[in-house]
Amino acid sequence: MRLALALCGALAAASLVHASPLPDIGLDVGVNLDLGPVDVDVSASVGKRAPPKQGGGVVAFYPNWALYSRSNISGIDLTGVDTVVWAFWTVRKDGSILTTDEWADFQVGGTGTIPLLNAAKKKYGFRTMLSIGGWSSSANFSAVAVNPAARKTFTQACLKACQDYGFDGVDLDWEYPGGGGLEMNYFSLGDPEFYVQLLKDLRSAFGSKYLISIDVSASSKRYDNQLWAYGQIVDWINIMGFDYVGTLQPISGHNSPLYEDKAGDPGKAGFVSQAVSAYIAAGVNPKKLTLLTPFYGKSWNVTSGSNNGLYQLVDVYDADQFYSSLRKNGWLTTPTTAGAGFQKTYWDSSHAPTLLRKNSEGSYTFVTYDDPSTITEKARLAKSMGFGGVGMWEITQDYQGELLTALVGGFKK
Ligand SMILES: *[C@@H]1O[C@H](CO)[C@@H](O)[C@H](O)[C@H]1NC(C)=O
Ligand SMILES: *[C@@H]1O[C@H](CO)[C@@H](O)[C@H](O)[C@H]1NC(C)=O
Ligand SMILES: *[C@@H]1O[C@H](CO)[C@@H](O)[C@H](O)[C@H]1NC(C)=O
Repeated sequence: MRLALALCGALAAASLVHASPLPDIGLDVGVNLDLGPVDVDVSASVGKRAPPKQGGGVVAFYPNWALYSRSNISGIDLTGVDTVVWAFWTVRKDGSILTTDEWADFQVGGTGTIPLLNAAKKKYGFRTMLSIGGWSSSANFSAVAVNPAARKTFTQACLKACQDYGFDGVDLDWEYPGGGGLEMNYFSLGDPEFYVQLLKDLRSAFGSKYLISIDVSASSKRYDNQLWAYGQIVDWINIMGFDYVGTLQPISGHNSPLYEDKAGDPGKAGFVSQAVSAYIAAGVNPKKLTLLTPFYGKSWNVTSGSNNGLYQLVDVYDADQFYSSLRKNGWLTTPTTAGAGFQKTYWDSSHAPTLLRKNSEGSYTFVTYDDPSTITEKARLAKSMGFGGVGMWEITQDYQGELLTALVGGFKK
């Protein structure tokens, strides 16, 4: 999960840090489902809902810093959402936890925005989870997981945060046990196993009173065969089915391709259905799995328009492309129509859309993103595999509910 850069306590809300490209997963038990034609449902159920007894249901991540540039939580239509995950808090080496944005959570408007979350919870009937970690706040998990005293401090602090602020549970977003996250993060080879201990301690403190979820990489290999054990302890596991291409990589690619590119991906980045299969093959009960889709894409300036800009040499990473920005800037004039100057390609094999614009001689802008039709297909895949949930990073990147409607429609039908 990505987070506005919060290093050494200083928050720079505008700059985003990006996960590096994922290594190839290598475990492909071969999902090959014909899910039929995609029709986007526009009639998401309205009104209060009872969240599912098992699994995450429709899980919406909300980053607390989004209030500065997009919307505070009360400005978002959360119809159809079962669980809102509030991101992020961080953990110190001693196991104590704290918000990454004191102003957003506790100060703005005199009370901060956590009371707005609780008001929305009352209105819609969803559950709320406090997310700890993320790309920029995972430095200390390793030190805490290995240390019994720090684990105790951590579990007590999580319990207190739920009691004090009305959360129904905590979501741990450790990126990643065993390394592979930010260079400054502590890690050790035993992390995936110590994570089991941390989750066990949390469960014994929570009992069945509070929920526990974790966020995991699309690359299941990071977890050293501990996924089954995690699945026994937590209420559900969110699979981050995105960032298959990093911002700094040398060739353009798909951010979140659903299936394998039959024509061949030179970067061998992997694809979402492969991750889904790998988690099921690891023995996790599908009811405890949630597939997260990206409500953002990425753009690069590439040096050639061949192959409609896909897998071309990158000149420079251009920008994060929230779906909302593509719609607002007119790069998309409808969910499926490219704006002036752009050519859209829908890659049938990967089930992923891209955009290409010719800028000047030898310069092109290439965009990878998710649209309602890809999102619907992903939700249908999750449903057909018996998943307990689907979700997104993150809800404020949507445009007038277009992607949320597709996600809810695809999963519920
Ligand atoms: C939250 O957003 C609403 C508009 O959607 C605004 O009226 C309200 O003042 C905001 N509250 C805070 C605490 O930012
Ligand atoms: C890790 O813990 C140290 C010591 O408590 C603290 O100074 C640092 O800010 C923590 N890092 C993160 C990312 O929270
Ligand atoms: C990418 O190309 C466009 C069009 O020439 C330009 O406006 C934009 O600044 C370029 N992006 C970067 C990061 O240089």
